[in-house]
Amino acid sequence: MKTQSSLRKIILDTDPGGDDIFAFLWLLSLVKQGLAELVAVTSVDGNVGARSTFSSASQILGLTGFQHIEVGRSFPLQKEVVSDAAHIHGADGMGNLSHTLPPATHRFAEARYSDEVIIDQLNALPGEITLVAIGPLTNLAAAEAKSPGILKKAREIVIMAGAFQCPGNISPHAEFNIFYNPEAAQIVFDSRDDIVVMPLDVTRHLILTPDMAQSVTQTNPDSQLAQFLIALCEFMIGTALSYRETGGIPGFLVHDAATLGYLFYPETLMLRRANVRVETKGEWTRGQTLIDYRRSAKVNANAWVALQVDKIGFFTSFLADLKVLFRTDAHRSANAHGSPH
Ligand code: BDR
Ligand code: CA
Repeated sequence: MKTQSSLRKIILDTDPGGDDIFAFLWLLSLVKQGLAELVAVTSVDGNVGARSTFSSASQILGLTGFQHIEVGRSFPLQKEVVSDAAHIHGADGMGNLSHTLPPATHRFAEARYSDEVIIDQLNALPGEITLVAIGPLTNLAAAEAKSPGILKKAREIVIMAGAFQCPGNISPHAEFNIFYNPEAAQIVFDSRDDIVVMPLDVTRHLILTPDMAQSVTQTNPDSQLAQFLIALCEFMIGTALSYRETGGIPGFLVHDAATLGYLFYPETLMLRRANVRVETKGEWTRGQTLIDYRRSAKVNANAWVALQVDKIGFFTSFLADLKVLFRTDAHRSANAHGSPH
């Protein structure tokens, strides 16, 4: 029997993004199963611009029957040197498929800013909310700048970001979410001593294939959600192959889903305690994330960094949970958790 305090209350900070959408759907399936509560979605400028990430978040909520959940809007980031990732995720961040879905029901012009939503929710429920951040850390940093100490009021902060013992994906040394706003990332790492990080070191092993997507949607393949998911998967595989992200395997990396893997299936990840620093100045290394591997005493650890993942365990749980979204008896299936199906 779950108590109120063990049910994780989550704010999802996201910049949809193909892999954001898969993470988002995983979270919604956990909510449907009574395993989590989604308090709000705070959209952020990143993979594509602020308006597009806001409207994608709204469309996903509408498509899955969660349109009552608040969506925060973000400021566009004023940095000429950084380009978005529309070349990976499509011009709308949804594999150019947004026109196939019901239109957004939330209004950008009337929405609260994402940093305000974060501040208000953390003040209202100190110590209870988990922040899951799967885009650039602009909103979290803005909340901390406006209300110093606010991020300490989160129960925990889990982010997809960084590259430690592997190459970057936006530059030789930097991962996209950090590279897009390194100053914001450093503010978040300075805000508390237990930031949980899912970097490319683990997410580069998380290749979702067409067979997996088919297995998820097979119980209801004609539904709008199934058709969208299969088409998005196809689009993402096209760009993943052209940018050589999967070692030639037809599939794509579900980076952002690692955060939910950590929260709900922590046995699938191995983490290392570390002090993470972000390079904000380097000409060639801007956005690089660094930890000290020397055998000297570490007195300033600020993070838990995942460096290994059990990908079979991860996909077993991820796919089984996603299937719940395609069942008509989604609520009843919560009770079948752990039984053969
Ligand atoms: C991260 O960058 C984005 O393009 C993805 O959505 C993910 O959050 C991976 O580096
Ligand atoms: Ca993302």
